[in-house]
Amino acid sequence: MNFTLRAARTLAGVVRPPGDKSISHRYAILAALAAGHSRLEHFSSGADCHSTLGCLRALGVPITIAGETVEIEGVGLRGLTAPTQALDAGNSGSTIRMLSGVLAAQPFPTTISGDASLCRRPMRRVIEPLTQMGARITASGEGGNGGRPPLQFSPVAGLRAIHYQLPVPSAQVKSAVLLAGLYADGETVVEETLRSRDHTELALQHCGVPLQRHRGRISLQGPVAALQPRDCDIPGDASSAAFFLCAGALFPDADLELHDVLMNPTRATLLDVLRRMGAHVDVLGVEDRGGELVGTLRVHGPRPATDGHQVFLGLGARPVSAGAPTRLQGTTIAGAETVSLIDEIPVLAVLATATQGGIEFRDAGELRVKESDRIASIARNLRAMGATCEERPDGLFVPGPQQLHGAVIETFDDHRIAMAFTVAGLIATGETVIQNADCAAISFPEFYRVVERIAG
Ligand code: S3P
Repeated sequence: MNFTLRAARTLAGVVRPPGDKSISHRYAILAALAAGHSRLEHFSSGADCHSTLGCLRALGVPITIAGETVEIEGVGLRGLTAPTQALDAGNSGSTIRMLSGVLAAQPFPTTISGDASLCRRPMRRVIEPLTQMGARITASGEGGNGGRPPLQFSPVAGLRAIHYQLPVPSAQVKSAVLLAGLYADGETVVEETLRSRDHTELALQHCGVPLQRHRGRISLQGPVAALQPRDCDIPGDASSAAFFLCAGALFPDADLELHDVLMNPTRATLLDVLRRMGAHVDVLGVEDRGGELVGTLRVHGPRPATDGHQVFLGLGARPVSAGAPTRLQGTTIAGAETVSLIDEIPVLAVLATATQGGIEFRDAGELRVKESDRIASIARNLRAMGATCEERPDGLFVPGPQQLHGAVIETFDDHRIAMAFTVAGLIATGETVIQNADCAAISFPEFYRVVERIAG
């Protein structure tokens, strides 16, 4: 399906994003391994999390799905059974990498693979630490042992704990090692220099695992006897909310509220960045849900001052004279900010075109190995819309301000590219056509309906 849109005059309404994708994956896996029943509410409607459920079912875990409510009958850490065929992780890097930590420890053989995009993604990053732990894994994908799926796991009698320094800041790799650590003899330690999302740590603690955290060091003592089942009302996806936060920041008179949004500090950097750029983002209340912060947000773009005085437009923005037109200010995103904004960079690159000065994205080489080569996908589509940008091996510079013009957008079957360039279509002249728009269903099947509703 193609999705066609034109510029919006403004945006208004309330958006409740689907359940957070990262948390849905983790709670599904932990609920499957727990000793007893778990009920997960507001489970992600995205295809990726349903790939995780499909793999768990194939491993003998009874699961019932009724809309966004998922009931899982945990089989215990040692209760999984051999699947009758290869597990299918679909498009989901989180599924294959995190489940690798569990499959590595099983006394039966398994194969896990996925779609063409997943079969191009690097798996050596999980194979290496898991092999150090005693797992026996073959990556039979393209290029022989090139570290690509399918991954074949041979049965093992047990794993040993390791002390692992993450060579890439990846929450998926960290999670794979910690999940394997549940089965390993001794203390498993993972160290990270740049902090990646910490939902696995929070969820393991919530399920009763005595996991220690100190700065970038996470440790747990294995083998763990049992995980306690936990019901969970999953917060709204922070990275799905990002499309609407950025869209709202593009319209001075937007009247957009986002309800039930995950505000975990490892995922909420976008709020700081948008404020620093001069957007107005109000937090209308925050609550703690099983260790995760959840809040309601309201957003609109910079507005010309009306009261005849100099005003400041949010943290870090320059003062403007009353009545003067204002626009978003450019910025640089690098280092730790890049890690915590990695999934938000496609939409921030679109936002960059509306800023004074543009946005420079550094330390973002990981974008090249996502669902598509996102640096190339962003550059290709910005250029198609008439914008210039500078593509770098590990980043991108998008100058601003630049007017975008409607174009045919090639999504490369990448959900975040499809959604980011839909936001671009909201500010472009003429008509924008998102090709293969259905790929948004990987994380946010309702996305286009929400866009139509809030853009009138
Ligand atoms: C995720 C971690 C990130 C992110 C992905 C989800 C997770 O990937 O891009 O969308 O849930 O742990 P990496 O771990 O490869 O950085």
